[in-house]
Amino acid sequence: MEKNKEIVLSGIRPTGFLHLGNYFGALKNWSRMQYEYDCYFFIADWHSLTTHADTSELRLNTRRLVSELIAGGLDPGKCTIYAQSDIPEIPELYLYLNMLAYKGELEKTVTFKDKARQQPENINAGLLTYPVLQAADILIHRAHYVPVGKDQEQHIEMTRNFAERFNHRYGEIFPIPRAFSYSKDLVKILSLDGSGKMSKSEQQMNTIYLSDEDALITRKIMKAKTDQGPTAPNSKKPEYIQGLFTLLGLVSSPEILAGFEYDFNHCHIRYGDMKKQLAEDMIRFISPIRGKAAALQNDPAQIDEILAIGAEKARKSAAATLLEVRKALGFKYH
Ligand code: TRP
Repeated sequence: MEKNKEIVLSGIRPTGFLHLGNYFGALKNWSRMQYEYDCYFFIADWHSLTTHADTSELRLNTRRLVSELIAGGLDPGKCTIYAQSDIPEIPELYLYLNMLAYKGELEKTVTFKDKARQQPENINAGLLTYPVLQAADILIHRAHYVPVGKDQEQHIEMTRNFAERFNHRYGEIFPIPRAFSYSKDLVKILSLDGSGKMSKSEQQMNTIYLSDEDALITRKIMKAKTDQGPTAPNSKKPEYIQGLFTLLGLVSSPEILAGFEYDFNHCHIRYGDMKKQLAEDMIRFISPIRGKAAALQNDPAQIDEILAIGAEKARKSAAATLLEVRKALGFKYH
C-alpha cells in the first residue's frame, strides 16, 4: 500500500448469500475505492455471533463471501481483505471503548431495538455492544471513510462519539471517521415483490443472488410483481414497477431502458417483454461473477492464502494503533 492515502474500511457479516443489493449498494463502491484509497475490507465473523450462534457453517460462509467479494470486483492485490477473527487487537480496543460507551445510548440504537424485537429470547450483551465492536473495527485502522448504507449511519455516528471521547480523555489518537458514498443517493435495490429491500439472510424468490443459476434468475424475474400497466400517460410508477426499471437501468443498455420508459409513458408497455429483456441482461451481468466465485470456492487453499496475507497486513496496522492506544492509556509498562 502506498503511504499517505486516506484509509477506508468496511465490513460485511457472513450470514448469507450476496445479492444485487449488496453488489450495487456496497461492493461496486468498494471496488472503485480500492484504486483511490488504502482500503480494508473484512468479514465480520465475530459480529455474526450476535445473531447466529451456530458456527457450523461459518467457515463455509466466510469462504463463499470472500469468493463473491473478489468475483464481484475486489482485488486482493489492491486492498486488504481479512477476517475480523484473525485480528486479536480488535477485541482489546473493543474493551477500552466499552468503558466509553453508555448503556443508555446502546439501548437506544435502532439496530439493537430491531434485533431485540426479532430475537426476544436472545438479547445478549454482544447484541447490545454491537456498535462498540463495530467502532473497534473502524478505529483499529484509524480509518477516515466508511462506505456503508443508510442503515449503518447511526453506528458510524456512535463510532465518531466514542473516538471523540477517547481523544478528549486520553489524547488525539483517532481521526474522526465519516460514512461515505460516491453519490448522494445510494441506489436502493427493491425486493422483486416491491416490499422493502432485497435481503441476504434467507434464500428467497424475491431476491436475486450473485450465485443464482441462469434458469433461476429468469424464473425469479418472470414472477416479479407487475400489473395491467398505466392507464394515463406519464403516470408515476408504483414502487414494484420502479424496482424493475431500476434493475434495467443497472444491467441493460441506456437505449433499452429509454425504450421501455417511452412505452410506459405512452401506456403501451408490455411487462412480459420487459421482464424477458431484464432476465437476459441480468444473466449476462451475473453469470461471469457467479462463474468466478464458483471457481474460487473450489479452491479453498487459495482463499485461505488470501485471508492469511490480508490478516498479516491488517494486523500490522492494528498493532501500530493499539500500541498508541496503550501508550495513551498508560498501559505500556515496559
Ligand atoms: N454492521 C455492519 C452491517 O451489518 C457490518 C460491519 C461490522 C461493519 N463492522 C463494520 C461495517 C465496520 C462497516 C465498518 O452491515
